[in-house]
Amino acid sequence: MRVLDAELLDFRGRLIEGESLDGARFSEYRFTELEPTDSTMLVDGFQALSMAFERHVAEFNAAPDAEKYAAVVGGCEACHMRSCPGPLERIAKRHLPDGQ
Ligand code: HEC
Repeated sequence: MRVLDAELLDFRGRLIEGESLDGARFSEYRFTELEPTDSTMLVDGFQALSMAFERHVAEFNAAPDAEKYAAVVGGCEACHMRSCPGPLERIAKRHLPDGQ
């Protein structure tokens, strides 16, 4: 997931600088195939959350823009609120500044 976080940082920087997102793509993960270190993280709804997240990623990858970037960050948060709140503080910093 550090890869995804690095990608967020890269695309966020490009959006803020007004650079093109041509070719920007998130790596596609199958969350349901990951093996969490602690199985209690596989809370109810994990599968639904991962499917929603994968859909946001696919939509961004097909046609990247600021709105779809925001949907991906929202997807990170939605799952982390439920399954693993630790990284939420870090993910909060991946939102675009107001007005972008
Ligand atoms: C469908 C659920 C889900 C989604 C979506 C999700 N995560 Fe996670 N994330 C987890 C779980 C569960 C763990 C704990 C994994 C473990 O301990 O093996 C984790 C771990 C992490 C970690 C700490 C461990 C590491 O690999 O660095 C970070 C940082 C992180 N996620 C960031 C993100 C970011 C950024 C996104 C969005 C791009 C994201 N996550 C999307 C469930 C999710």
